[in-house]
Amino acid sequence: MAENVATLQIPGQDAIELPIKSGSEGHDVINISSLGKHGHFTFDPGFMATASCESEITFIDGDKGILLHRGYPIDQLATQSSYLEVCYLLLKGELPSAQQMQDFKDLVTNHTMVHEQLATFYKGFRRDAHPMAILCGVVGALSAFYHDSLDINDEHHRAVAAIRLISKMPTLAAMAYKYNLGQPFVYPRNDLSFAGNFLNMMFSVPCEDYVVNPIVERAMDRIFILHADHEQNASTSTVRLAGSSGANPFACISAGVASLWGPAHGGANEACLEMLAEIGSVDRIPEFIAKAKDKNDPFRLMGFGHRVYKNHDPRATVMRETCHEVLAELNIQDPLLDVAMELERIALSDEYFIQKKLYPNVDFYSGIIMKAIGIPTSMFTVIFALSRTVGWVSHWQEMLSQPGHKIGRPRQLYTGAKQRQYVPGTER
Ligand code: SDX
Repeated sequence: MAENVATLQIPGQDAIELPIKSGSEGHDVINISSLGKHGHFTFDPGFMATASCESEITFIDGDKGILLHRGYPIDQLATQSSYLEVCYLLLKGELPSAQQMQDFKDLVTNHTMVHEQLATFYKGFRRDAHPMAILCGVVGALSAFYHDSLDINDEHHRAVAAIRLISKMPTLAAMAYKYNLGQPFVYPRNDLSFAGNFLNMMFSVPCEDYVVNPIVERAMDRIFILHADHEQNASTSTVRLAGSSGANPFACISAGVASLWGPAHGGANEACLEMLAEIGSVDRIPEFIAKAKDKNDPFRLMGFGHRVYKNHDPRATVMRETCHEVLAELNIQDPLLDVAMELERIALSDEYFIQKKLYPNVDFYSGIIMKAIGIPTSMFTVIFALSRTVGWVSHWQEMLSQPGHKIGRPRQLYTGAKQRQYVPGTER
């Protein structure tokens, strides 16, 4: 028997030997790609135990609460690095030298503006359009503006598209917010940090200067870092699948934005704040805890639980510290935040949530911080998309640079009608 082989015995058939592959960390995988010729497919709705690809970008251990970006622990990156440096790391695989970092910062800074014609796209939306709806539209529309970086087989084209997307997402995001408000768009400023520039585009007005609060700037940058990438989550898998067909990078990222919008995924931070508002006061928390435990009630505590982290979300640990830092710094007195802190305390001590391992996830605390900063809940997932763009483009680039990559095309278990003959309408 060959080493590292799984043997599958299907009734009535000879044993099938399936190779086992080992990575540098985490689970081994059983390569089942040859199974089709033996007349079977695997069945794994929701991909609970399916590896869709080989990747070097991010490693997660859900049981130990580990998250590594190119081998570096997320808590070290969040407390010692910057979002732009993490972007460099995710894209290139190594931390930059001082010169490499300066060059990368200059490259991103000098691509933050968008084509003036793109600004007219916003005028096609109602003023009360959800900013995620706007973002889905305008990110896809970037395809119409950049014909010089659409050859996905050209490494330089891929690199140019990646920088354009990372650089322009904050501008597009802030424009969506300003459009909702009916305020004029604010151009990016090259003298500000990545986070400071975003805050300025969000909150400055022509009538007076906006002064970036360094605590808020740091918290914003940390939110960007903590949402930058997360292995093969739903939206990243969407980007990979879209990219596998050869679609242009802007269309792929637009698909990722759409997938992230769901309340089970990136929409959870907005849904979490809406849940806190619905709870309204600390004394109503037990009523909602009971709903969350009721199997017949579809209600879930938004911002709690995770498909992979069954211990704690390491990002939430860092985000929690940042949350309390911002609340103290801004001296925020908000009953909604009191509800959040009490809900966290109860959920962390309640036997049901402990047994089901439903800890507060990254979205629970990021929503609270963004509300404290004065960002409306409708913008929360937009900011998640802005942050995750570097993860999406890193995985998109990795997939396209791997030799022999194929279009993603899952199979199915068909349970529909067997073949039958058409009956003309007059005879039915
Ligand atoms: C993100 O994949 C990623 O990496 C995502 C993300 C990223 O960075 O890309 O980390 C970002 O999306 C974080 C998750 C944000 N979503 C939410 O906060 C929404 C609320 N959470 C749930 O919808 C849920 O926890 C999921 C979707 C996150 C995970 O669901 P799973 O892994 O499919 O687990 P499950 O739905 O099968 O639930 C397991 C059990 C169930 O009870 P039983 O059927 O076993 O009795 O736990 C219960 C669920 O009812 N449960 C919850 C719950 N989440 C799960 N009960 C109450 N409240 C919850 N939030």
